[in-house]
Amino acid sequence: MVISTADAAGIAEAGGIIRSGGLVAFPTETVYGLGANALDADAVAKIFAAKGRPATNPLIVHVRSADAAAEIARVSDIAKRLIDAFWPGPLTLVLPKESAIPDIVTAGGPTVAVRQPSHPVAQALLDAAGVPISAPSANRSESISPTRAEHVLAGLGDAAGLILDGGPCTVGIESTVLDVTVDPPRILRPGMVTPAQIADVLGYEIVSGSERSMGVARSPGQMPRHYAPRTPVRIHGDIWAEADGASNRIAVIAYSRPTARRACRVYLLADNPTEYAAKLYDTLHAADAAGVDEILIEAVPDGEPWSAIRDRLTRAAAVSPAL
Ligand code: TXA
Ligand code: MG
Repeated sequence: MVISTADAAGIAEAGGIIRSGGLVAFPTETVYGLGANALDADAVAKIFAAKGRPATNPLIVHVRSADAAAEIARVSDIAKRLIDAFWPGPLTLVLPKESAIPDIVTAGGPTVAVRQPSHPVAQALLDAAGVPISAPSANRSESISPTRAEHVLAGLGDAAGLILDGGPCTVGIESTVLDVTVDPPRILRPGMVTPAQIADVLGYEIVSGSERSMGVARSPGQMPRHYAPRTPVRIHGDIWAEADGASNRIAVIAYSRPTARRACRVYLLADNPTEYAAKLYDTLHAADAAGVDEILIEAVPDGEPWSAIRDRLTRAAAVSPAL
């Protein structure tokens, strides 16, 4: 697998790979995706193989426009309003699927998850390919999603055909997944498009669920341990007290300023959720690669603007029942 510049030639080559049934890793504004032609069951099967992803976990289909979404899914009036407000961008809508989408994409289910990414390279790739592209995050199942081309290369090695390099992702965590086949709509995975923003557009409250129980039944990808580094992760409220005396075998990820110089490795993130999210996975990848014994993460503030981040941190710290 090679990293390719996302110039006109690189995008044309990548579009050709997608059309001929191969895989391409590409940037979106959220995280890098591992894409295949969503209309080609054999091509989509390669995604599951490359990721080691269970066939029960359905994929998101990326489209170029709202019109392209209507060719693969039934777009209700509510969905249209959300599309007008949030696309292109990090909101995925679960909709009743049309027959063009093969069962492997939806794990045999009657619905399909669809979004229009705002990243110009993703849009250019969709144009070059001329087909909708199904793409999960471009990482092995259960590891941290990639926010740089180098993360994809380190995580998947030769398993993807080509990696288009579009620089670091700006949103930094995966899209909000909203099921609009139920009334009221229900968040299956929290993201940086918040329930309050969605409720504002619709004019009524939606179901956001508790962070631990959210979507487990309906969104099979939401396993407790997901987005997890190899290094053990612990979340702590009073981070600088906890880090007192910690050696350089410990990495600390915090947003509040340290009270004194520390021997441990300190990664300071912004104290607002937008900038924090943009750097979170990049920081987790770096801390994981640093070879420390433990990653200590400062608990983030309560409240909805931080809830998608809280969800990812909880999952990163969750101990797999299989371990
Ligand atoms: O930001 C993102 O959404 C990134 C970029 C590449 O677009 N993609 C991504 O895909 O995070 P993935 O496969 O890692 O996560 C897709 C999530 C999973 O939790 C999956 O279970 C859920 O969406 N999902 C997909 N199709 C679904 C469906 N038909 N019904 C319910 N949940 C679905
Ligand atoms: Mg993923």
